Amino acid sequence: MTETSHDRLLIIDFGSQVTQLIARRLRELQVYCEIHPYQSVTAEMIRDMAPRAVILSGGPDSVTRPGSPRAPQALFDMGLPILGICYGQQVMMQQLGGRVESGDGTAEFGRAYVTPNERMPLTEGWFGNGDEQVWMSHGDHVSALAPGFEVYGTSPNAPYAITADVERNFFAVQFHPEVHHTPAGVKLFENFVRRAGFSGDWTMSGYREQAIDRIRTQVGNKNVICGLSGGVDSSVAAALIHEAIGDQLTCVFVDHGLLRENEASEVIEMFRDHMNLQVIHAEESELFLGELEGQSDPETKRKIIGRLFIDVFQKYANEIKGAEFLAQGTLYPDVIESVSFSGGPSVTIKSHHNVGGLPEKMGLTLVEPLRELFKDEVRALGRELGLPKHFIGRHPFPGPGLAIRCPGEITREKLEILRRADAVYIDQIRKHGLYDDIWQAFVAILPVRTVGVMGDGRTYDYACTLRAVTSVDGMTADYYPFSHKFLGETATRIINEVKGINRVTYDITSKPPGTIEWE
Ligand code: XMP
Repeated sequence: MTETSHDRLLIIDFGSQVTQLIARRLRELQVYCEIHPYQSVTAEMIRDMAPRAVILSGGPDSVTRPGSPRAPQALFDMGLPILGICYGQQVMMQQLGGRVESGDGTAEFGRAYVTPNERMPLTEGWFGNGDEQVWMSHGDHVSALAPGFEVYGTSPNAPYAITADVERNFFAVQFHPEVHHTPAGVKLFENFVRRAGFSGDWTMSGYREQAIDRIRTQVGNKNVICGLSGGVDSSVAAALIHEAIGDQLTCVFVDHGLLRENEASEVIEMFRDHMNLQVIHAEESELFLGELEGQSDPETKRKIIGRLFIDVFQKYANEIKGAEFLAQGTLYPDVIESVSFSGGPSVTIKSHHNVGGLPEKMGLTLVEPLRELFKDEVRALGRELGLPKHFIGRHPFPGPGLAIRCPGEITREKLEILRRADAVYIDQIRKHGLYDDIWQAFVAILPVRTVGVMGDGRTYDYACTLRAVTSVDGMTADYYPFSHKFLGETATRIINEVKGINRVTYDITSKPPGTIEWE
């Protein structure tokens, strides 16, 4: 996956929870970087990749433990600028002749303030208003510097908060400049990469051209199938591939009857009519809703949808002549997750719906033109490709669709009520200018009817709940703090405009302990 014509930076991952943030900060500086777990990094690999600089990430281990992770020793003789962060600092010290200690009093977690000793290139622009706030999260600490290193910043509990051998361009910090709690952390990265000679050549217009060339080379004159979900990732992937190979691409849009109001027609209209893509509208709602009838267990519902989705996709794809490739909107975080040595979460909370097994089953080769991108880069690429703004900024929508927003048994009646309520809620959010502040918002219809009174009459209708969360990646989330006025107004609108709902609640559970979806 290594890009050839960009300046590159190698991040050696020692397993920190926040290594991805290092990559994000660098990408924001228009620096192309790749994260590789330390086990896969050899001197030969580094020479092949030919990075302009290397960053050593934090990690959970202790360098004082025999057998703990190290960087290849040869790295330090390659003349490359190196920045060590937390465990990365300790690795540098240990491998370059300093000392690291663990034990009582070496650990430090949380906010700290660094005081400068003297000026140096990495901290240009820091300390203008006195001490800088940083985030510490370490068990061990450096107790003796490696030869050639000097101290440039200290905090009350970290005498070696900022260290460097400026001549060799080796920098090592005890804190985490990549996290938001180090507010000016990005400045350190900027100083580091500029000094290392990065020109900031990683842009989406450059990426677009390169990706198009690569797709053409990979695919030749063969045909490609793409499962279009209407989500940002598959839409951008399809638009990019279409630009590269035109009508050699056919998209299949599986309509399982669990989509939001007008969703199918909007997706089809945009891709088929405005962008001239070949799109097959696989209208199979009867099949899905038929098999879901009478099922109320969340995992059973998910499994039925996942299985049918693959069957249906395969059926339509088989009709496309000469297709040898399957396009997927895989993003960089998925790639890192799958190579990460620490692995993903060990417990299956939900069996996520995906088409992972499809390519082998159908004998197709994958085309994944977004594999190197983070989500915000995919959005930038989408804008570059001319996809409408409201489309690119859409909230994520799960593969199983409204099924997981309809706890208990799914009926056509409940789905219809849910669609209407969701449309009113999203309309409210847009009207109040809140859509872009929220990561995901939707209505779930609850499997309970409650008594109400409207006019002079009794009602006995469904209750629904509104959900809105802020999040960075969906792994954790906070509920959105709507004003009471907004909530009251929205509840009134839903009850007045949606027949079948007479009670509205707001879900104020964060994740964890809740999940974002209800099932
Ligand atoms: P949870 O409910 O697990 O959701 O907190 C986290 C994010 O994942 C989305 N989600 C899914 N997306 N297939 C998907 O493509 C699925 O099966 C699925 N389940 C949940 C959810 O909408 C949220 O953005």
